[in-house]
Amino acid sequence: MSARNVILLGGPGAGKGTQAGLIVADYGLPHISTGEMLRAAVAKGTAMGREAQRSMESGSLVPDEVVIGVVRDRLAEPDAAAGFLLDGFPRTVPQAEALDAMLSETGRAVTHVVAIEVPAEELVQRIAGRRSCPVCGRIYNVTFDPPRSAGLCDVDGAELVQRADDNEETVRNRIRVYEEQTAPLLGYYEARGVLERAFGGGKRPDEVYAQVKRILADRPA
Ligand code: AP5
Ligand code: MG
Repeated sequence: MSARNVILLGGPGAGKGTQAGLIVADYGLPHISTGEMLRAAVAKGTAMGREAQRSMESGSLVPDEVVIGVVRDRLAEPDAAAGFLLDGFPRTVPQAEALDAMLSETGRAVTHVVAIEVPAEELVQRIAGRRSCPVCGRIYNVTFDPPRSAGLCDVDGAELVQRADDNEETVRNRIRVYEEQTAPLLGYYEARGVLERAFGGGKRPDEVYAQVKRILADRPA
């Protein structure tokens, strides 16, 4: 079987990272999250991190050429040759076009685009309650998926943290940016016959994941 080259699409808090954790455990695909890569660059204080920080804190997009460069380098690594899971990229039509071009250089193509659909008000609620482990990256929610001991990671006991961009004002901007700049990708991938929708509103992560698994199984690459 050839590679599964998968994209997770969805607004802020739609559950891309949560579903990615489940997919990676079952399918062994490398999880490529541009948000995580940019946050790591910000934490290290690299030149790219300094450039990205202001956009991220306001909930706007980092310039296309910056993220395209990051993804190009990551997809050239050997572990991505047998398939990959992109989370948070592409987010604009120029990013999608650049991805198609870079994959076709190596005889590859996007095989599955899973769009996770969640109503905006639920996104705001989820983001307000999100906490994550700075050590292992596990994502929690104080309302929907709390850790066993308040504020501490179930896996390694580390103190959970809240993301700098997880405040209500920034989230509303992120939702607006998603609708204006990223939602056009639904049509882009629908036209290419690779788009599938998973309904996330009011559904538990395992119920969403059951849909994701059907999508990945239905149309094996
Ligand atoms: P990024 O890190 O990608 O953030 P995002 O798209 O806003 O998405 P989130 O990570 O907030 O949400 P998620 O869908 O992963 O949800 P999660 O599983 O955590 O990007 C951040 C910033 O980086 C951008 O704003 C931009 O500035 C920049 N950037 C990144 N990529 C870029 C690109 N390609 N181009 C330009 N700029 C870029 O879940 C959220 C919460 O909900 C958690 O608490 C979780 O426990 C809970 N939850 C999950 N599923 C469920 C469920 N089914 N029911 C109830 N609760 C649930
Ligand atoms: Mg995420």
